Amino acid sequence: MKLIKPCLLAITALLFVNCTAQKKISSLKDVYKKDFYIGTALSANQIEQKDAKVNSLICKEFNAITAENIMKSMFIHPQKDKYDFALTDKFVAYGKKNKMYIHGHTLIWHSQLAPWMTQIKDSTEMKAFMKDHITTIVSKYKGRIDSWDVVNEALNEDGTLRKSVFLNTLGEQYLIDAFKLAAAADPKTDLYYNDYNNEEPAKREGTINLIKKIKAAGGKVDGVGIQAHWRLESPSLEEIEKSILAYSAIGVKVAFTELDITVLPNPWDLKGADVNQNFEGSAKMNPYPESLPDSVQEKLAQRYSDIFKLFLKHKDKISRVTFWGVYDGQSWLNDWPIKGRTNYPLLFDTQLKPKKAYNALIDLKK
Ligand code: G3I
Repeated sequence: MKLIKPCLLAITALLFVNCTAQKKISSLKDVYKKDFYIGTALSANQIEQKDAKVNSLICKEFNAITAENIMKSMFIHPQKDKYDFALTDKFVAYGKKNKMYIHGHTLIWHSQLAPWMTQIKDSTEMKAFMKDHITTIVSKYKGRIDSWDVVNEALNEDGTLRKSVFLNTLGEQYLIDAFKLAAAADPKTDLYYNDYNNEEPAKREGTINLIKKIKAAGGKVDGVGIQAHWRLESPSLEEIEKSILAYSAIGVKVAFTELDITVLPNPWDLKGADVNQNFEGSAKMNPYPESLPDSVQEKLAQRYSDIFKLFLKHKDKISRVTFWGVYDGQSWLNDWPIKGRTNYPLLFDTQLKPKKAYNALIDLKK
């Protein structure tokens, strides 16, 4: 009996050491701790912790969170005089409990607006809306949300301003107003302009001009979000690198805010995330309904590895890299631009198992 106790203690200690060591080499957030935050986007179910296995994966791998949908205008501000903070409160509490970096997505966006917002007709009404919307939401989470996407996707592909209810009623002043209102509501939170394809030359130029304009008018812009809904073959590492350097040169932090990589056919050469682009499906367009062939799995791993190598090279300019979802089964890319395909854009498969791409990113830091 006397001998058994020390033996048990030794075995327990060994298990503990192994477990700690294993956690150290196998967690993304740990291996990239000194480089940048590693984030994920959470669905409503994940915020409510409905699936214990998914929840423990989130806690193990990520140290930053974005709400995939629940903070968008239609959900958080469904009627003119009604806000719904039920899920947002849970989201923020979740991040705090787990000591995570919390990012707010998104205050001003032409998409997923509540129907009443699309009816706003003139500048007086729009000014009142923006003041109420931004001030109410940002003040409520003052000191608790680390950064906000103040404006999302305001630009066309050629770098000009996208037509929207905001532009139609207020002209380009709405961008300046939005950043000023957010800064007034919480002076310490970081304010981002977020978009897709803004690593492409024309849109990059447009983004830089926009940020300069907002800053020149007295607005505070701390960072630019490059969404990074990317493909196996594009964008090129050269354009990504040029973007990191160009944005950094105008004094803003760079965050990769919605990273995923589609592996499915894209005959239309679609880039980015314009959800209004939809096409008919066919078997040819959904080539891997059961599983991803090893050869493509390898390509995905190589692509992620190349991208992260570049991110590490510029880690001093990059604040956060967030994946758009936790695992393949939940990705929006299963439904865009064709509904019901099986895509494999993230690091964990539908069974929550790490893919080759995950191992490649861990290996980069060995
Ligand atoms: O509104 C209904 C809701 O009432 C219903 O309960 C639910 C049931 O499925 O569907 C709801 O709407 C869906 C919504 O997500 C919330 O789940 C929409 O049909 C669906 O189109 C919507 O898709 C989201 C999309 O933004 C909308 O634009 C995706 O999940 C989300 O991943 C995607 O995220 C965007 C970023 O916010 C901005 N950048 C591009 C990115 C990818 O499109």
